[in-house]
Amino acid sequence: MPHTDPAPFSTVERLQDTFAAADYIADRALALTVKLAADLGKPMLLEGEAGVGKTEVAKVLSRALDTPLIRLQCYEGLDANTALYEWNYARQILHIRIAEQDHESRAHLEKTIFSDQFLLDRPLLAAIRHPGPRPAVLLIDEVDRADEEFEAFLLEILSEYQVTVPELGTFKAAHPPYVVLTSNRTRELNDALKRRCLYLWIDYPSPEKEREIILRRVPGVKAGLAASITTAMQALRRVDFYKRPGVAETLDFSRALLGLGIDELTPEALLDTAGVVLKYRDDIDRLKALGAERVIAGDLDLGER
Ligand SMILES: Nc1ncnc2c1ncn2[C@@H]1O[C@H](COP(=O)(O)OP(=O)(O)OP(=O)(O)O)[C@@H](O)[C@H]1O
Ligand SMILES: [Mg+2]
Repeated sequence: MPHTDPAPFSTVERLQDTFAAADYIADRALALTVKLAADLGKPMLLEGEAGVGKTEVAKVLSRALDTPLIRLQCYEGLDANTALYEWNYARQILHIRIAEQDHESRAHLEKTIFSDQFLLDRPLLAAIRHPGPRPAVLLIDEVDRADEEFEAFLLEILSEYQVTVPELGTFKAAHPPYVVLTSNRTRELNDALKRRCLYLWIDYPSPEKEREIILRRVPGVKAGLAASITTAMQALRRVDFYKRPGVAETLDFSRALLGLGIDELTPEALLDTAGVVLKYRDDIDRLKALGAERVIAGDLDLGER
């Protein structure tokens, strides 16, 4: 949904409304981080467990501001070239073949094949070259999966917002992007990178927030069912599972129950759909051992096995 508020960053409350209009429930801490990041022109680093809504922040921001989302998915072995730009070799070779037939001069040919038309923008260059009018949103997702050398390289880009392509010159961002970095914290990030960013740990949602998310994201779920799902999810997260369920699982669970025509959460319904919420056999066994009725009643203690 394109935003209608001409100044969504003016206050934290307006930002929360802007996010709500895009179906994202942003608590004060998140809205504040987004606002400060925009005000100070700094990237934000969102850390948290899986499925708590980190990636979605960037998506919602781009939708709300009606500006492109440029995504760089990080992985082990990701290198600067893949993230920045590449030359379109296939087109260059084709061009050389044609130019040879036309007896084009070598100097002219060299100049043409290293021109803009043969340059493939990868996410970082695309974000820097984004023509505006509003800055793009650059999502650098799961940065903890990339290698440390890549982090050092990112640091450079994020301090200057400029890139030099030796054959073409330097590009400096006319509209530096809003940058959202996410991490699942599979390893600690470099201090220098952290220092450059505004940091926010996104926790599992409070019961109020979780209920609101369900009602907002899964139309058709009645308030009573949303409340029962919330109680069950909050109880499940108090158990020391191998993998605790996030908001993504809450939404899948809600949709599963809706699809099965269930409007009251019973122990049977929870056990039938346990695979939507828990993804390890041991965790499902533990749920059975604890008793689905206790989960639904919400009476589980911290760390209970
Ligand atoms: N506050 C929220 N309001 C609305 N929807 C939310 C909220 N938080 C999470 N969600 C929803 O939960 C799902 C998971 O969110 P997302 O993919 O952003 O999680 P993540 O933290 O990036 O997880 P991962 O670490 O697995 O990548 C999405 O469908 C998202 O829309
Ligand atoms: Mg994510």
